[in-house]
Amino acid sequence: MTDLNLDHIERLVEPGRVHRRVYTDPEIFDLEMDRIFGRIWVFVGHESQIPRPGDWIRGRMGARQVIVTRDEAGALNVLDNRCSHRGMRICLKDSGHSRRLVCPYHGWAFNHDGALAGVPAPRGYTKKSTDLTDPAFALKSAPRVDLYRGFIFASMAPDGPGLVEFLGDIAAALDNAVDRAPDGEVEFAGGVVRQEFAGNWKMHMENACDLVHPGYVHQSSVDAARDHLRDASPGSIPQQAIQMFNGNGISLDEWDALGVYGFENGHCYMDGFYRGGMVDPAMADPVFTRYRALMVDRYGEDRTAEILGRDTFNNLIYPNISINTRFQQFRVIQPVAVNRTHIYSYSMRLKGAPEEMFEMSVRFVSTANSPSSPVSSDDFAIFEGAQAALANGDSEWLDFSRRLGDEQKTGKAAVRDSGTSELPMRTQLNAWRNLMGVP
Ligand code: FES
Ligand SMILES: [Fe+2]
Repeated sequence: MTDLNLDHIERLVEPGRVHRRVYTDPEIFDLEMDRIFGRIWVFVGHESQIPRPGDWIRGRMGARQVIVTRDEAGALNVLDNRCSHRGMRICLKDSGHSRRLVCPYHGWAFNHDGALAGVPAPRGYTKKSTDLTDPAFALKSAPRVDLYRGFIFASMAPDGPGLVEFLGDIAAALDNAVDRAPDGEVEFAGGVVRQEFAGNWKMHMENACDLVHPGYVHQSSVDAARDHLRDASPGSIPQQAIQMFNGNGISLDEWDALGVYGFENGHCYMDGFYRGGMVDPAMADPVFTRYRALMVDRYGEDRTAEILGRDTFNNLIYPNISINTRFQQFRVIQPVAVNRTHIYSYSMRLKGAPEEMFEMSVRFVSTANSPSSPVSSDDFAIFEGAQAALANGDSEWLDFSRRLGDEQKTGKAAVRDSGTSELPMRTQLNAWRNLMGVP
């Protein structure tokens, strides 16, 4: 640790601007891994990924690589993916099912709760030299693991606010993701789409509710969609991808007519903007009509209208989750280095819904957030350009002051502003400063 004392950190974030070092300094990144990802509740997986005892998946809590397991007793555990013998990664695949977790280096075997179960030829260890029953030989486990409606979170801090308190009002996004299933459950299905960009993780989170950028950054796909729609035969229903590209082309006034919202702890969300596609009630799509009828059977007309009427686009759970409930998309933004970030995009299957709803979700993820997407590749080009330019110290500050001071209080913890406000970024940066400022 060099000059990064509390005073320095506080001076990096001002009400409407942020120092470039927040995005470029490896020491700040290390401190983020410790004070943000090493402390608050971090999403590590979904219950549906590890349904049976013996199942495990790999996950991350910032730079810390973990294994999320379901043990013999059915309990969830979040363990360091680091062998207690000589430090090797134990799980090299993304997921699996096994009686024990066995290290590939010298074969030490661990139970799914992290306890050391056995070592090859234990005669090599005498009680005098090494006590293999010492709990220090267990895999280090996260002291707190909790579930919210199937979503697994862990915290490396032994105490602090509980998960429900940490989520606060943004829990409504997770509720809505699950409530949209006629059977009241979702599962992560169809694998995961992975992407990488050479930029800081915060850029992606800040961009997710930045409603000025689409008309500039995504102009080429908006133009292509408009050309296509102009040439389409009258009355034909355009493909979902075309509708989505076209959706980014609304005017700044139209963006401003939407709301952006900020909460305590850095969470935020934006209103929905994209009309069209099978989940648009105005389109009377036969699949959606069938799905809606199943919802009404289950929840009744009023509750169904309430669930499907929650029209939001990106819901951001600080520090690194972006959920789109209308299209059953769940994204995890994983920091890898100060200038390197991975994005994991999942589709959620609504249990009890027609399978076409899941296919729509997969198409959404492929169109908006996959290596073949012309939308996310635009965004990544911007992140990489900004990251490269910020490395140059000529100008010190990034500006986030658009509509600063215009926020209105809406509920006990939320503020709202017009769509083009930089309120969501300020919400995240305030949380950043609060967390980073506490040793
Ligand atoms: S490092 Fe794991 S068994 Fe040796
Ligand atoms: Fe974008």
